[in-house]
Amino acid sequence: MCPLNSKYRLQWQEMKVPLHPPAWSKKEHAYACLNILTAGAFSGDKRKELQEELKRKFGNRKIVLTSSGRSAIHLALKALKIQEGDEIILPSICCPAVLVPILQNKATPVFADINLEIQLDHQSVESIVSPKTKAILVPHLFGGAAPMKDLERLAKEKNIGLIDDAAQSFGLEISEKPLGSFGTSGIIAFGIGKPISSWYGGAWIAPLYESTTPDLSEFLPKIREAKALLSFATSRAWRNWWPLVREIDLDLEKVEVPPLSQASQIGSLASWLALSLLKRENLLTECRKKNAKYLEALLDLTQLFTWPQRHHENIYTKLVACLKDPGHKTVDLDTIQNKWRMLLSGLRQKGFELAPPYLPLHLLCSRNSIPFRSEDLKNTENLWYKMVLLPVDPPLRHQSLEELALALPKILQQVKI
Ligand SMILES: Cc1ncc(COP(=O)(O)O)c(C=O)c1O
Repeated sequence: MCPLNSKYRLQWQEMKVPLHPPAWSKKEHAYACLNILTAGAFSGDKRKELQEELKRKFGNRKIVLTSSGRSAIHLALKALKIQEGDEIILPSICCPAVLVPILQNKATPVFADINLEIQLDHQSVESIVSPKTKAILVPHLFGGAAPMKDLERLAKEKNIGLIDDAAQSFGLEISEKPLGSFGTSGIIAFGIGKPISSWYGGAWIAPLYESTTPDLSEFLPKIREAKALLSFATSRAWRNWWPLVREIDLDLEKVEVPPLSQASQIGSLASWLALSLLKRENLLTECRKKNAKYLEALLDLTQLFTWPQRHHENIYTKLVACLKDPGHKTVDLDTIQNKWRMLLSGLRQKGFELAPPYLPLHLLCSRNSIPFRSEDLKNTENLWYKMVLLPVDPPLRHQSLEELALALPKILQQVKI
């Protein structure tokens, strides 16, 4: 047991394939450690440089740096003057963190279906728009792109807001326009597991017309680098690639999502890391694409998986595979969660850290508070429990991917997912 808290348990284990190894170079690791040791992380100011770089990328739009993607969504909702009872449409398959700003603003999330590319389905959105709908939140998932042009047309027709959430697909373009710059306003994020994975942070790409930019001082009180530092040092992701803290295994299920009152600006060190990674963005993307292709080819040999449809470019923040035969007839949340737990812990014991599939948000929320109709969410209900999210981050070498491709079918057979 860790002396700090019973929530922590000791675990010494070499991860052959950690879930989100950030693509920091030795120089970046050294700079981060030095800054932490000398408290340079709290002074210095690289924020302005990051802001300028993002401004250049997003066609001179106003950029507001934040401490997280969800803080940036919070600003996007404030800019749309979202009020209690307003409805925000988003896909049921998504990172649950996006719910935090919606609920914080007392708005009601309304869940739409995904298409066969595992992105928000515009026809499903069209069928659930109501007079209460104030905005569509479009999180592009796993390095792919949602049908932004159709969604923009729909938002214009219905006169509602459109938030372009490029947290997972920052760097991808549609018709030479970067994701994050569509719709009313956009957001990006720099946390672990994102395409530009600093250690935390985000940015709001403000509306084209700045008159709608809200006064932000109220929402961005101060920089809380110390708190971010602490949570980073104890986080699961950090453990797997920094041997000194590797033994601390935080039980993520017990960690609560921080309330938005903690929304703050990004600090200098996190800005510097994001800037540094942005300088070799193309290289990182190419590497992820090559890893994804390689792993896909290896897994094709097993004949256990199918792949989502792909009509658009993809930068593969994760490689999504779907199990051909998940081996159960009923889609019962508890049974499937238990099977996934067994699969993931089997893989962990062998040194492979995979992400569980996103649990559909509509199944997690109480039906009374957030009404939905299962027949409106057919693809979601048919696909979520078959999805495997595989890491392809640049630090991973082909040998690790080969080991993963060998281990996965064996453990799948044992668990019979
Ligand atoms: C699509 C998407 N949007 C927003 C967020 C929130 O980002 P953050 O964790 O930086 O608040 C996430 C988190 O993973 C995400 O996946």
